[in-house]
Amino acid sequence: MPIRPDLSGQAILITGAARGLGRSMALTLAQCGALIGVTDVDASGCEVVADDIGKAGGRALALPADVAVRAQVLRVAGALAAANGGRLDAVVNNAMLLRYEPIEQVSEETLTRMVSIGIHGSFWGAQALLAHYDAQRGGAIINMASPVAEKGFPNTAAYSLVKGAIVTLTKSLAAELGPRNVRVNALAPGSVPTPGALGLNDKAEYERRTRTIPMRRLGREEDNAEACAFLLSPEASFINGEILHVDGGIAAAG
Ligand SMILES: NC(=O)c1ccc[n+]([C@@H]2O[C@H](COP(=O)([O-])OP(=O)(O)OC[C@H]3O[C@@H](n4cnc5c(N)ncnc54)[C@H](O)[C@@H]3O)[C@@H](O)[C@H]2O)c1
Repeated sequence: MPIRPDLSGQAILITGAARGLGRSMALTLAQCGALIGVTDVDASGCEVVADDIGKAGGRALALPADVAVRAQVLRVAGALAAANGGRLDAVVNNAMLLRYEPIEQVSEETLTRMVSIGIHGSFWGAQALLAHYDAQRGGAIINMASPVAEKGFPNTAAYSLVKGAIVTLTKSLAAELGPRNVRVNALAPGSVPTPGALGLNDKAEYERRTRTIPMRRLGREEDNAEACAFLLSPEASFINGEILHVDGGIAAAG
């Protein structure tokens, strides 16, 4: 059993938490003692994850929402805060539509949706935290970046422009909100075969990648979840504006 950071007393909203990295972060942060708001467009998936957390002895609320819609994000954040004496401690802006396509095949609808979920959704998540955090106690925002924000990968024009914007948003908000006792950081996981990512890469591509990743293995959902728990812990109280790579060295290797 790993020694986990103590997040008891924290209420944390996690978007895109019905599966993949979001689900894994929800389960881990709940094990650290936090009350979790499980948010996703997949309403039944939210129920299943909240149920799993409850069965494991944790606390969670299923709070379905589309993160592209500001009012829905503010509504679920308000509901989670209401269940925690009016206070929200952190938001993890994880929801995203994962899609790789050659640039000329990217439709107007797909690009708009990816920008609305990834960029607008992270923006609304930050506003939601600010509406409910306690300035004395402080707050935290975690955004989800990616190695594609720094390196060029073919067929990722739409995805990488969203992730590049998320890195910029993270740094900008770290500067703006630090004086208000809110830390803003990002996780940049690499090559984790989640349900969404498996739709992008076939088995042969993952085998090829495994040979080039410096750690010679794919990422695991838990690698990212443990890093998330650390970033939200009191031990990380001076870490602000950081893009924490959890990618086995992909971004560093160039
Ligand atoms: N898997 C990887 O290798 C990897 C690498 C780098 C970054 N990331 C990032 O990690 C995050 C999670 O990715 P994943 O691999 O778990 O993907 P995933 O597709 O398995 O999960 C994404 C979740 O987001 C939800 N979602 C989509 N649109 C939504 C919306 N409008 N509102 C609310 N929820 C919505 C989906 O229903 C799904 O449950 C994403 O931001 C992704 O870009 C993943």
